[in-house]
Amino acid sequence: MEIQSSIFGISSFGIHNPKTPFFPSKATPLSAPKQVLFKTHFSLSSNLSFTKQTLKVSASVAKVECEIGTINIFEDGLKRKIRKKNLAVFVSGGGSNFKSLHEATVNGFIHGDISVLVTNKPDCGGAEFARDKGIPVISFPKLKDGSGLSSHVLVTALRSYKVDFILLAGFLKLLPAELIKAYPRSILNIHPSLLPAFGGKGYYGMKVHEAVIASGARYSGPTIHYVDEEYDRGRILAQRIVPVLANDTAEELAGRVLHEEHKLYQEVVAALCEDRIIWREDGVPLIQCKENPNLYM
Ligand code: GRF
Repeated sequence: MEIQSSIFGISSFGIHNPKTPFFPSKATPLSAPKQVLFKTHFSLSSNLSFTKQTLKVSASVAKVECEIGTINIFEDGLKRKIRKKNLAVFVSGGGSNFKSLHEATVNGFIHGDISVLVTNKPDCGGAEFARDKGIPVISFPKLKDGSGLSSHVLVTALRSYKVDFILLAGFLKLLPAELIKAYPRSILNIHPSLLPAFGGKGYYGMKVHEAVIASGARYSGPTIHYVDEEYDRGRILAQRIVPVLANDTAEELAGRVLHEEHKLYQEVVAALCEDRIIWREDGVPLIQCKENPNLYM
């Protein structure tokens, strides 16, 4: 069977990333899996490229339709709408993870918008980038000179932006209990080592990579975890392995890990925004694969 499908101008809801074609997350496989050939045009909102691709997929999907702001999935006649999510990103530094997440919201890989940036360093690279892109910047916590929001006012502000999820991306302050209580199971952090190793108070920036190299560990890599009241202790959601090479400097290892951080955070936030996080009975969060809901990342 050959299906010709032209998807043009669909730029804001996670359907046109050529590396990750969009398929419903809960499609029921047909009794006898068949091969279907899609000839698909992808239109990218950024200047990445315009590609024409031929994709082979398993014939498990009856029909996929879209409308602005939601993803509509038709599975065996059932319609499942996924609302576009509002994201708050917290940064203290250069914000390369923030920039990468922003790019993925703009090109539609992530079905969400970055509604607000929160920082304790209003002059940092991340905050500058946000202002450049017209994203509101909130200063937190309250400083002695009177600037910055208190925890209570911050929660009110995030509510006013209708924030669904909070993403820490190099934010160096401990979050107040009030914020964690206001956003249960909704705050993620990225850490540049395989937690629980090399995490906790004092493990930040190059210190993490120096400690990894000094330990003789042969592998490192980013961890994305839920945030609770302690540093780097919340439930692990996703990890990726990166080799530690014999002659690595901390900077070289950091660069290799950061490259994976960008990809992993985009994938995890895409899953978060598509409601693909499943909580196992013992409290461990799992990410459902997009192509097959019985598999987990
Ligand atoms: C990253 O290595 C992240 O894992 C850690 O802080 C760093 C932030 O880097 N939490 P950037 O500001 O996103 O470039």
